[in-house]
Amino acid sequence: MRHQHGKHQRAKGNPDCGDFQTLYTDVMTRTALDDRCVVLIGLMGAGKTTVGRRLAAIMDRPFNDADHEIERAAGRSVSEIFNDFGEAAFREGERKVIARLLDEAPMVLALGGGSFVDPQTRALVKERAVSVWLQADIETLATRVARRDTRPLLRDGDPLEILGNLLETREPAYAEADIRIDASAGNHQATAQIILAALKDWEAVQ
Ligand code: S3P
Repeated sequence: MRHQHGKHQRAKGNPDCGDFQTLYTDVMTRTALDDRCVVLIGLMGAGKTTVGRRLAAIMDRPFNDADHEIERAAGRSVSEIFNDFGEAAFREGERKVIARLLDEAPMVLALGGGSFVDPQTRALVKERAVSVWLQADIETLATRVARRDTRPLLRDGDPLEILGNLLETREPAYAEADIRIDASAGNHQATAQIILAALKDWEAVQ
């Protein structure tokens, strides 16, 4: 009788059993990507924010932009932070904000171009995220960054030359990204789809 009762309970869906089942199925079907942020890195003008927004929409995840969060936390624009406090203070704030964002629910996160060069940020990204390096040739990047004058590092000099120098110094760090994507073509939606396919490939070998 008790046995039958138990059966009856199960058939109706014992809440304990049901929860365990859901949990078990969830644990067994979770992939390496489910628990990780997708972090977009690369030089200024690579399209991290625009592509990131599209990727987040496709993946049905929140999107965040590290520079935007730094600006919010500081109550100032990136340019103002550079002007008022200097680059070192910006980098310190950047490191803290990125660490906080990587602690939140898995999102798509666009990082400022210099952040992945920081060893602490790089180590944290490796631990908690999948990193995607958006690559583009310097000429394309220079054309794109010319549309806005909000980037303090490009204010004093020829953007083409500055970007070339930055690439040279940053390339070894960028090369540590899990995935590389050619983002030279301006079709951001297509780039987001290409990233998604690369993420699935990455996931398959984890
Ligand atoms: C920087 C890139 C900028 C911003 C800051 C410094 C860099 O972000 O973080 O101006 O060092 O390359 P974007 O790459 O989003 O332009």
